[in-house]
Amino acid sequence: MIIAIDGHSACGKSTLAKDLAKELGITHIDSGAMYRAVTLYFRKRNIFPNDLEGIRKNLPGLEISIVPGETCTVMLNGDVVTESIRASDINDWVSDYAKIPEIRKKLVELQRSMAKRGSVVMDGRDIGSVVFPNATIKFFLTADIRTRTNRRLAELRAKGIPAAYEAVKANLIRRDQIDSNREDSPLIQCEDAIVIDNSKLDVADQQDVALRYIAERTQIG
Ligand code: DC
Repeated sequence: MIIAIDGHSACGKSTLAKDLAKELGITHIDSGAMYRAVTLYFRKRNIFPNDLEGIRKNLPGLEISIVPGETCTVMLNGDVVTESIRASDINDWVSDYAKIPEIRKKLVELQRSMAKRGSVVMDGRDIGSVVFPNATIKFFLTADIRTRTNRRLAELRAKGIPAAYEAVKANLIRRDQIDSNREDSPLIQCEDAIVIDNSKLDVADQQDVALRYIAERTQIG
């Protein structure tokens, strides 16, 4: 079984994916975390998104893996980077690296190979449209910008990362813009995706709604 969850930044995709993985006993893969790890890799080497030659040269040396479990542990070339990929600097740059086709090609291959090992729930921007067009079920999550900004603010503050409402909101809007308008695999709402607006749903309600759709789909299919 493959469950694809797509949507804008800070819509609660990873929370839903994690909850569903736990409930269904399957693996959660946060594909956004993989793009974040790529961003950290190039930022550390001072290679900017417009330096395509530098990106091409260094891409073969990039190794990312996700260790499934309670939290999705992200490894970058042997180091655990689960926390450091949430820093503001990564938020500021990640969409610019995620636009680059060479980077996307490498990560999409990795994502597909991860799903060969068993059932997965994967969240991101192009999971239903590009990575797994034949997914068992596709969800498209949305929420209003105020809710999303407050969620991201709470997430950052809980980690002790200082953040201001307007700056976080501007970052989300900018990333939405880039993610939805890039040439390679833009964020789109697939025709066969189930849309869940979770602005007014709490985490438990959201999980219930999704589980009901999954039960329906897997009984029929
Ligand atoms: O879900 P997130 O905020 O951690 O994702 C970080 C960035 O990675 C996001 O701005 C767009 C990019 N991304 C992508 O292009 N494709 C995916 N499948 C997942 C994330």
